[in-house]
Amino acid sequence: MRVLVTGGAGYIGSVVAAQLIAAGHEVAVLDDLSTGYPDAVPAGATFVKGTLRDCAAEVLADGIEAVLHFAAKALVGESVAEPAKYWSANLGSTLALLEAMREIGVRTIVFSSTAAVYGEPEHTPITETDPTRPTNPYGATKVAADTALTEFARLYGFGAVSLRYFNVAGAHQAADGRWFGERHNPETHLIPTVLASATTGRRMQVFGGDYDTPDGTCIRDYIHVTDLAEAHLRALAACRPGGHRIYNLGSGTGYSVREVIEVCREVTGSDICSEVVARRPGDSAVLVASSARIQAELGWHAARSLRAMAADAWAFTQARGPR
Ligand SMILES: NC(=O)c1ccc[n+]([C@@H]2O[C@H](COP(=O)([O-])OP(=O)(O)OC[C@H]3O[C@@H](n4cnc5c(N)ncnc54)[C@H](O)[C@@H]3O)[C@@H](O)[C@H]2O)c1
Repeated sequence: MRVLVTGGAGYIGSVVAAQLIAAGHEVAVLDDLSTGYPDAVPAGATFVKGTLRDCAAEVLADGIEAVLHFAAKALVGESVAEPAKYWSANLGSTLALLEAMREIGVRTIVFSSTAAVYGEPEHTPITETDPTRPTNPYGATKVAADTALTEFARLYGFGAVSLRYFNVAGAHQAADGRWFGERHNPETHLIPTVLASATTGRRMQVFGGDYDTPDGTCIRDYIHVTDLAEAHLRALAACRPGGHRIYNLGSGTGYSVREVIEVCREVTGSDICSEVVARRPGDSAVLVASSARIQAELGWHAARSLRAMAADAWAFTQARGPR
């Protein structure tokens, strides 16, 4: 199949693009490089540098049959500081893409949604039928994009799947040995932050040590980016005209901040210095996904361990060398 990967020069999009190519698909990447890197686009993909608004129609018209839509702004704090930027980038650009798809007649789409749509959960693990009550503009834009997908499925016969990721981690090694990994700037995710402390020797901060969890630190649900990519291939095959399916992607169990630091210590062999500081406002004690629905319907489950995530992220860091 000939597929468009929006945001394919970013972390997750580049890994999924590499997996799609490995599975025999033809891949076109559209990315404005606002947070992506041209050298992250996998060999074998065609690459157009541009925005969804300006370039989606032109790329779609070149024989595209399906879209995997990753392009977005994804920093919670920035979304609180600059909400209009997030509504424009995440909802406005998605609507521009959907309209271009409708005009050209491409009606299959897999969308990157997020755990942030749920906000403060009433219980764990979180299921897809739980209410969406986002606590920041980033999550709200993703709920709105999900709503638009439901409408485009109902009104225009789109076949859509939204995947709600919890904490994505690790790096992916393609068959040619090349690594694809995470290089956000600023980096707000835990595993690359801990690994950066291992490299620089800088003390890392643990936000809150008095949560109602076994070791007092927050628990999150991490999944390996290679597992995540496999879920996208299954979702692509599962898109059906007129339907919009929503699936959580997590492991069903979580790890505490202390457990993550400990695994990173073992993987790097470095003493990672950390200090407990005040809680951050808005952090929940435990955020864990139920992935029972995607397991039952698409046969997917998270197979790779926390150790594999840390080890692969570390291998990616080492392969890139000093920055
Ligand atoms: N990383 C995570 O843990 C996580 C968790 C939940 C959801 N998500 C979602 O997954 C998707 C990918 O996240 P990521 O971590 O790979 O982010 P990323 O910043 O690495 O990748 C996003 C890519 O989209 C591109 N882009 C942004 N706006 C664009 C536009 N208007 N036109 C063209 N290109 C544009 C950027 O240049 C970048 O390459 C996002 O939609 C994000 O909301 C990520």
